Amino acid sequence: MLSLNWIILASRVWITLAAFLSLAVSSAMSCPHEISTSANYCFTDYTLQFQNMLSSANKLCCGMDAETLRAFCQAYRTAVTCITQLRTACPKERHDKIDTVWGNFEVARVGLRELCSDDSLIENYAMHQSCLTKAGPTSEMCFHTHLRTATEIKFLTEVTTHKNRNEQFCVEMLKTIECVRRNVNHTCGHQPAVLSVILVKPMVRMSTECNYSVIENQLKTTKRPHHGQDAYISDKHSGSSRRKAHKGTEENPGNSSIRHSPSVSFIVSLFLVALIYRGRPS
Ligand SMILES: *[C@@H]1O[C@H](CO)[C@@H](O)[C@H](O)[C@H]1NC(C)=O
Ligand SMILES: *[C@@H]1O[C@H](CO)[C@@H](O)[C@H](O)[C@H]1NC(C)=O
Ligand SMILES: *[C@@H]1O[C@H](CO)[C@@H](O)[C@H](O)[C@H]1NC(C)=O
Repeated sequence: MLSLNWIILASRVWITLAAFLSLAVSSAMSCPHEISTSANYCFTDYTLQFQNMLSSANKLCCGMDAETLRAFCQAYRTAVTCITQLRTACPKERHDKIDTVWGNFEVARVGLRELCSDDSLIENYAMHQSCLTKAGPTSEMCFHTHLRTATEIKFLTEVTTHKNRNEQFCVEMLKTIECVRRNVNHTCGHQPAVLSVILVKPMVRMSTECNYSVIENQLKTTKRPHHGQDAYISDKHSGSSRRKAHKGTEENPGNSSIRHSPSVSFIVSLFLVALIYRGRPS
């Protein structure tokens, strides 16, 4: 118990440090000379937390520690903010260097929109974590049954047999989601089942890009029309708060309203500190 607290404390200190370092990078009065290095620096904590997600004892679908997920999403948002500020500080001619680094992250970002969109999702997750753990082994069977991949599916896993994200992949993905949702609904109830739909998708890379409503319509002859509708309930979680948090990155990356004046940097750092300490254990 003590060692767990220490790990949490250490990770918080690390997040705080990384947040300040990335702020130092992005709030510099001028665009940094080593622009690729600075861009990579934005992902320092993200990379660490990503590894934590991969090495977690339980998978995301199936009872992963809520603190691990929380730390990951914070690191993700910090990275997005950091890159956005770097772009703001640098002239357009130099954006390609940033975008090279950003590009590697972009694929992941699409898969994380729903998951890390707001803190209420994680609060909700923490409440249902123990039951999702209980339903875990059966939920994991769903991946084996429907995706039939040799790779163990952990987090943003590339399902290599379906590199092209084709229709067949999306059909199998929908079946997997349905299978997990049904299992969680059976074991834990409706609310956790809705949540499980959001948790399953980021486990498989690119699966968030499937248009599940199209597949559902195609499968209507064999399935009841209401199957899988919960996938769309999840849109609730990607409402205004996400749009606010990612303003200037989702729609208009080059035109963020954040300018690199010291006072704005100060406010941003206060905001980040508040964000970090919001989840402090009581
Ligand atoms: C969820 O489970 C309940 C009770 O086990 C059942 O009545 C209900 O139809 C299920 N809902 C869905 C969408 O599967
Ligand atoms: C999915 O397909 C339906 C039907 O073609 C379309 O109306 C909807 O806009 C699509 N959704 C997305 C997110 O592309
Ligand atoms: C950037 O945003 C400002 C106002 O927020 C707007 O007037 C301007 O046209 C935008 N520029 C571009 C390139 O989108």
